[in-house]
Amino acid sequence: MDGEISVGIVGLGLAATAHIRGYRSHPAARVLAVCDSDGERAAAFAEEYSIDRNYSSYKELLADADLDVIDIATPTFLHAEMATQAAQAGKHVHCEKPFCRSVAEGMAAVQASERTGVKLLVGETYVFLSSHLKARLLIEDGAIGRPLQIRQRHGAWHRRPEHELHIDAVSRGWRLDGAKSGGGRYPWIFDHAVHFFATAEYLMGDERIDEIYAVAASAGDSRRRGGAEHDPYRTAEVDIPIITWRYADPARQGVWMRAERLNGKYDFMQGFSTTVVGETGMIEVLGEGGNNLLWQGEQQHLVLHREGRETTCFRFDEGGDRVWASEISYYGQGHINQVHHLIDAIREDLPVRYNGADGARAVRCTLAAIRSAQVGRPVKVAEVDETFTAYDQDGSQRSPDAV
Ligand SMILES: NC(=O)c1ccc[n+]([C@@H]2O[C@H](COP(=O)([O-])OP(=O)(O)OC[C@H]3O[C@@H](n4cnc5c(N)ncnc54)[C@H](O)[C@@H]3O)[C@@H](O)[C@H]2O)c1
Repeated sequence: MDGEISVGIVGLGLAATAHIRGYRSHPAARVLAVCDSDGERAAAFAEEYSIDRNYSSYKELLADADLDVIDIATPTFLHAEMATQAAQAGKHVHCEKPFCRSVAEGMAAVQASERTGVKLLVGETYVFLSSHLKARLLIEDGAIGRPLQIRQRHGAWHRRPEHELHIDAVSRGWRLDGAKSGGGRYPWIFDHAVHFFATAEYLMGDERIDEIYAVAASAGDSRRRGGAEHDPYRTAEVDIPIITWRYADPARQGVWMRAERLNGKYDFMQGFSTTVVGETGMIEVLGEGGNNLLWQGEQQHLVLHREGRETTCFRFDEGGDRVWASEISYYGQGHINQVHHLIDAIREDLPVRYNGADGARAVRCTLAAIRSAQVGRPVKVAEVDETFTAYDQDGSQRSPDAV
């Protein structure tokens, strides 16, 4: 596709403020319109970024014939339906994660995109993060031999003191709601585990996860358990602090653990980090909000250890993050990489790196983890029915009407 690509963004919260930097820094992209059900927000956003058109109804945005791409950054319960409608209208789609709340909902959007021949990129920013891209390249180059084990560590995210996350009462409402978040009693896990499973497959050379076991924790009485340090979830009563999994290849396995400050313990390493253990080496790499990966006393972003070779370190000095006190530019360069990838894929008519089927698979893994926490045993990913949702299993279903 030649010429300028015109984009309309719907849902003007935290994610949209990260996406817009990607479009504005791409020479062939232009954000022509924005939309938010809060009309004042749409008008203020349009003014702040000098955008010509603003709408308060998604229908009007979709009817704008000048738009090539619809960027969906609304709350999770709206993603799959909005993506389906955009694809049916013949627009390319950039849809935030989690892509859907059931596999069926996500695959309906995939089928709509296949029917009209549009691109559908799921905004799985972890597979667009510069540090993770480098880790994948090293693994593909055979730097650690055959990867066998993934160990993910979720340390605390520390916000920059000057950054105010746009988490007002409205955002807080949908994020904590079982049906709107999609996660039932586990809204934080549903919102974030898609990142963890996407990374677990990406850094295992696209090997598929076969079976998942989640260890659930509960305060056990009326006391509330401290969940993630991420503000809206602090009151979680139940939590999944540890997830383990096996890949289709039985020699390979993975683990994710919440390693943030919990029960008063102090943990030095911050943010998301991954260790990939291979037959002949090991990679340690920082992700979102990552800090304090040290080698010989120096801060590093990726460390490559190889048998019989000197350890090699890498840094990605991309200006640090906008939200987290971290040198890893997640809300900056990670989102920019993702948006540029989509624009380039549209221009060159190439497949996108992370598509709707990928997004639906990460949701299926997340649902398997939640199911495992519910039933207290390992759950095969293939066992998760296409229509299964986390929110109608535990009485936390509420009607997903407008926020
Ligand atoms: N990839 C990432 O790193 C990343 C980061 C943050 C959020 N997210 C995801 O992005 C999505 C949005 O999260 P957020 O934190 O930006 O949310 P938010 O609550 O800050 O913003 C959502 C916006 O959508 C608007 N909205 C709600 N219903 C609408 C409708 N029917 N039509 C138009 N606008 C509507 C709201 O008014 C609000 O302004 C979530 O699914 C979240 O998981 C992803």
